[in-house]
Amino acid sequence: MTTASRPFVPRAVGTPRPRPEGPQKVRGTARYAVETADTDALYLFPVQAAVTRGRVTAIDTSAAEALDGVVAVLTHENAPRLAREADADHGVLQSATIHQHGQYLAAVLATSSETAREAAALVSVTCVEEPHAAVLDEDSPDLYAPGSLVVGATDDTRGDPEAALAAAEVTLRRTYRTPMEHHQPLEPHSTVARWDGERLVLHDATQAVSWTRQAMAAAFGIEESAVDVVSAHVGGGFGSKGGTHPNTVLTALAARAVPGRSVRYALTRQQMFDLVGHRPATVQHVALGSDREGRLTAITHDVVTQGSRISEFVEPAAAFSRGMYAAAARRTTHRTVPLDIGTPTFMRAPGEAPGSFAGESAMDELAIELGTDPVELRLRNEPDVDPETGRPFSSRNLVACLRRGAERFGWADRDPAPRARLVDGWWHGTGVAAASFPVVRFPGSEATIRAAGSGVYEVEIAAADIGQGARAALTAIAADALEVPVERIDLRIGDTAYGAAGPAGGSAGTTSWGATIVEAAERFRDKYGDDPDDGDEADAATPDNPWASDYAMHAYGAHFVEVAVHADTGEIRVPRMLGVFAAGRIVNPLTARSQFLGGMTWGLSAALHEESVLDDRFGHVVNRDLAGYHVATNADVGTVDVEWLDEDDPYVNPMGTKGIGEIGIVGVAAAVANAAHHATGVRVRSLPITLDAFL
Ligand code: MOS
Repeated sequence: MTTASRPFVPRAVGTPRPRPEGPQKVRGTARYAVETADTDALYLFPVQAAVTRGRVTAIDTSAAEALDGVVAVLTHENAPRLAREADADHGVLQSATIHQHGQYLAAVLATSSETAREAAALVSVTCVEEPHAAVLDEDSPDLYAPGSLVVGATDDTRGDPEAALAAAEVTLRRTYRTPMEHHQPLEPHSTVARWDGERLVLHDATQAVSWTRQAMAAAFGIEESAVDVVSAHVGGGFGSKGGTHPNTVLTALAARAVPGRSVRYALTRQQMFDLVGHRPATVQHVALGSDREGRLTAITHDVVTQGSRISEFVEPAAAFSRGMYAAAARRTTHRTVPLDIGTPTFMRAPGEAPGSFAGESAMDELAIELGTDPVELRLRNEPDVDPETGRPFSSRNLVACLRRGAERFGWADRDPAPRARLVDGWWHGTGVAAASFPVVRFPGSEATIRAAGSGVYEVEIAAADIGQGARAALTAIAADALEVPVERIDLRIGDTAYGAAGPAGGSAGTTSWGATIVEAAERFRDKYGDDPDDGDEADAATPDNPWASDYAMHAYGAHFVEVAVHADTGEIRVPRMLGVFAAGRIVNPLTARSQFLGGMTWGLSAALHEESVLDDRFGHVVNRDLAGYHVATNADVGTVDVEWLDEDDPYVNPMGTKGIGEIGIVGVAAAVANAAHHATGVRVRSLPITLDAFL
């Protein structure tokens, strides 16, 4: 049922296997972007705007230039010109206009990192300020409907949801809020750039070397073929390294001023809060109409998100509610407010992560209202076909995830009464939430397979290993597609020399690159059989999925969480988390478990800690380091259990994979909030859930 004429038989796929690059990473010999810099590379340190909106009226670089070791100081007055219009995201050092706090206003190039930083502090900038707005106000007169979302229509209405809500036996209307959050990969965004004549050579921390190449070609007005991007190892991506941000443009722009010489720039942790995207804050209005038996008759999910005046990115939070449950009348809408802040971007499960907090909290509230078990309420609303498209599901095992999770977690023994279990001064409670994430296949990857002698196959694809284990996964897929042991695969990734490729993003990396490799293997074997001559070569582009318009394709999951809230202090602990997933065939059980676990840990982090606090007076994030921006640690959680169900889906792709990078985070915050309510009787509708809510 796939395009391939040979069936894909999993042998290496499905077998636990450590990362082939693991020893290099442990020994410190795996080189990340900035570590590739030559010893004479110049260090870049930026000067950033201390106001949120306005203009630079004077900029004095003389003291910086006088410092020993400073090679150049670039400002909007002397920086090379870019092809793009100024004031867009990539219009770095192109005009005097300031559109956000932290914007790059100058860059120092020096022979040491310390000198660059000291010199940057000596640059004197004079500005005029204009009025600004940085904090989300859902009543803002600037509110508007974006043209579309990355994942579909801005708004979607079926039937007459308001009439259905008015007529429903039970109606629940609630508002949920999620904060601005910033990505915190261990490796900050970083770039090494060099110009060899008209050729731009970049080593960049990116989830998509091809996307970086496209963005840089556009910014500098050169052919894509004149840009090389290498990204061998990436210390975490999470969405912010999917797009190209001003830091990469700045580094390449600065390198333009010192032809033939490399410039390196790694963001400080504080700079991670300025210019490389964030998850925007949301306000989400959810209404559910149901009959007394808990069958939903109406769902509305209306979202307002924080946006940027520079360019548009909308968190598609209501999209989560388009496919979860059956209800004849539905409405989902998105509105955004343009603010004087950096442009938001994708963050792990963009849309689903905050959207599921609202949607799955509301389901819990409805279950309590009806006196129905929250697992049972979800089972009663399981749709026969995809509510959004009307298509059958390629496979949908949400019910199985809920049942298996309930069994393993001991849900049957749960007393539904809230605030009923006080143990040694801690209120204990349990909660559940469902998860889903679409199966995405990015078009436009290219794979080449070459016989390299001694039975070895070189497999080239410009995939990105951002820590998720792409090397191990794609090696296994290539081995099975060629029906050879993994030892005979020489996989090469992370370099635009290997052609175009989709990103490590959208939980679509393994699916998109894997389907391309399988296609290339198919062509290779058609052409040369299984005993090729050295140098025999075949390539392929990502095939379309022939079933794409016949089936709705999603991964599903269920989270079960136990929460303990201290009766006196309100402190929250999470002694137990369990996630059960149905996400197609699991390529590498070893790394997959880590991915689910990582997603769940981040869900916990979003539930309890993460919040970027904007100071409206200055338009910047106040808690802009890891001392102020808290992330979950071992102390927050007891056991985290991960399980997945065997799922055979013949429609998603030849390998049967659905993507697992994001679904782990989806629903966790709702499960925690639902458990916290069960523990204490206090319903928290705003993240993060902090102890003051219980006092
Ligand atoms: Mo992920 S937010 O699609 O990089």
